[in-house]
Amino acid sequence: MLTLHPNVQKLNIINFRKNNRCETSENKMEQKNFKRTTVTSALPYANGPVHIGHLAGVYVPADIYVRYLRLKGRDVLFVGGSDEHGVPVTIRAKKEGCTVQDVVDRYHGIIKKSFEDFGISFDVYSRTTSDIHHKFASDFFKKLYDDGKFIEQTSEQFYDEETKQFLTDRNIKGECPRCHAEGAYGDQCEKCGATLSPDELINPVNAINGNPLVKKATKHWYLPLNDYQQWLEKWILEDHTEWRSNVYGQCKSWLDSGLKPRAVTRDLDWGIPVPVEGADGKVLYVWFDAPIGYISNTKEICDANPEKYGNWEKWWKDEDTRLIHFIGKDNIVFHCIVFPAMLKAHGDYILPDNVPSNEFLNLEGNKISTSKNYAVWLNEYLEELPNRQDELRYVLTANAPETKDNDFTWADFQARCNNELVAVYGNFVNRALQLTQKYYDGIVPECGELTDTDKATLEEFVSIKDKVETLLEGFKFREAQKEAMNLARIGNKYIADEEPWKVIKTDPERVKTVIYISLQLTANLAIAFEPFLPFSSAKLRKMINMPDVNWEDLGNTNILPAGKQLGKPELLFSKIEDDVIKFQMDKLEATIKANAEANAEAKPVKETVSFDDFTKLDIRVATVLECERVPKMKKLLKFKLDDGTPKGRTIVSGISQWYEPEQLVGKQVLFIANLAPREFKNGLVSEGMILSAENWDGSIAVTTVEKQVKGGSQVC
Ligand code: 2FM
Ligand code: ZN
Repeated sequence: MLTLHPNVQKLNIINFRKNNRCETSENKMEQKNFKRTTVTSALPYANGPVHIGHLAGVYVPADIYVRYLRLKGRDVLFVGGSDEHGVPVTIRAKKEGCTVQDVVDRYHGIIKKSFEDFGISFDVYSRTTSDIHHKFASDFFKKLYDDGKFIEQTSEQFYDEETKQFLTDRNIKGECPRCHAEGAYGDQCEKCGATLSPDELINPVNAINGNPLVKKATKHWYLPLNDYQQWLEKWILEDHTEWRSNVYGQCKSWLDSGLKPRAVTRDLDWGIPVPVEGADGKVLYVWFDAPIGYISNTKEICDANPEKYGNWEKWWKDEDTRLIHFIGKDNIVFHCIVFPAMLKAHGDYILPDNVPSNEFLNLEGNKISTSKNYAVWLNEYLEELPNRQDELRYVLTANAPETKDNDFTWADFQARCNNELVAVYGNFVNRALQLTQKYYDGIVPECGELTDTDKATLEEFVSIKDKVETLLEGFKFREAQKEAMNLARIGNKYIADEEPWKVIKTDPERVKTVIYISLQLTANLAIAFEPFLPFSSAKLRKMINMPDVNWEDLGNTNILPAGKQLGKPELLFSKIEDDVIKFQMDKLEATIKANAEANAEAKPVKETVSFDDFTKLDIRVATVLECERVPKMKKLLKFKLDDGTPKGRTIVSGISQWYEPEQLVGKQVLFIANLAPREFKNGLVSEGMILSAENWDGSIAVTTVEKQVKGGSQVC
């Protein structure tokens, strides 16, 4: 048995204090003592591989959280799966000229493998085309139908007589009634951002084959969300004020606009047949069946492993279960309003306790796009940067779009890997382990008398567990990882200041203590990074011969006892060289170029106009005096312009997705001064149009002048 050195016993006192503090804060955080947690992560559409935006927005944060809960010894079930219904997969099949089943089979396989490769530790990853899911979702619908929770409505919908198909909004294209761009979709004009209904389109046609459309009556079932308005207002706006502000804000804006009945069925030949009479050719709306997939996938895994997971119902029906949905911001309304209303209508289920939704991740300043192939695909990343899962996990968490959209750049990726993972974390660990190997044949030395620096360094570890836990429980993954990296910085500074490689010549006894402490810090790092960087932690644990992780040891400075034989040291991380980054940048450039060429081909120069016709347009320059968002119309920005007149001019433009209002104040913009004024639903009148350029990725850049001119100057 090992006897502890008196100084080490002193360190244990520090740990005792720290552990007491942890328990207190943990109890404070958990207002209710849940017995278990069901964690879901949005089911990605099986219409393409998954990319870094998916990983950063949903799966890495969900995985960190679940790994942490498991380390804390909590009962947790992590549910994932592919969303294999809906229009996106059918569009992909048409594009690829194969069956929809082929598409979903292929991408389900690719997606599932990518998640496994990146260590996303699902308990279950299934699919919505499974028999279990079809039956489960069908029964769920039937119960709501039998309980009279739906309303039936017949309406006139667009129909393609040649293909004998009703068309979903996304499958209808036409001229935008607002900006008159061609190719606006039945639900949205991607040019001006207007939210549309297919009825508003000018000359609507089938987006797939260009066929003209007629109107035909069709019956659908609607969930009357308006009946749940009051209940949702209380449940979200009063009882869940702790939700992230982006989530709470979006819910509030939906609720403030007033909820309306929402169709939960579609005329489509791909999906789960509507299980009632007279519903031939109709399927459940994908957003009705997909979230039910969380429950059916739970049932699938529990039925297959009852000893391990127990009965599925405890994960979804027991008030002692905490339900957390990890999603991206485009899924907020479905997880916070529609799905809870469905669960409430059903009556047997618990509701989500939190819905940590992230904003979007851009790539090198542009929008990530599956259809434009502009992304860093996870499967390709691992082929090109093998075994570098943790590097990507680290950078995506360090730069996570938790509160606002963020940008992934390859330069930042390289800098963070080389300057943080390699130069700080890797460097410290490598020094500690190499010196142990060199001076003590890989055996942990005895700890001697502690200096003030030793004590100060160890003190810094006292609060680490508490800090990381508080941040993780609050879904602040970015900050939590920063705290873990801070430990490495402390270690790095300690060993650099102590310079054991010099002191060994003058005071070998002192070096034992420095190495002892460095090794304890190393063990702490392996624990602290376990939820974030599971591959590197496993590698490090092997090097320090610590097969099991005990989260409760975090902050303990006597984890590796003197006399313990360590494993073989290896480099924990290696540098990312410039040519790797250049390869990735060239690849993105090539995609941008191909898209720009396709864009130019798709948008041929319009028909020639006479000079007289051209001069009818009065294009002028104005200075932006004020710019603000328009309440309840989230796509719009309202501009107050100095157009050279004493009164000025108000123009409303659908570009809020691309600019923060304050970015445009003071800028000079071009606008059409003699366009007929246009009135919006809320009475706001736009007196002209600001001219913008549409980039290849659909993003918008306002046009401006090369040097300052007087407001009102004419463009000639
Ligand atoms: O946005 C999407 O990719 C959807 N497939 C997410 C569905 S989440 C859940 F409801 F299944
Ligand atoms: Zn438009």
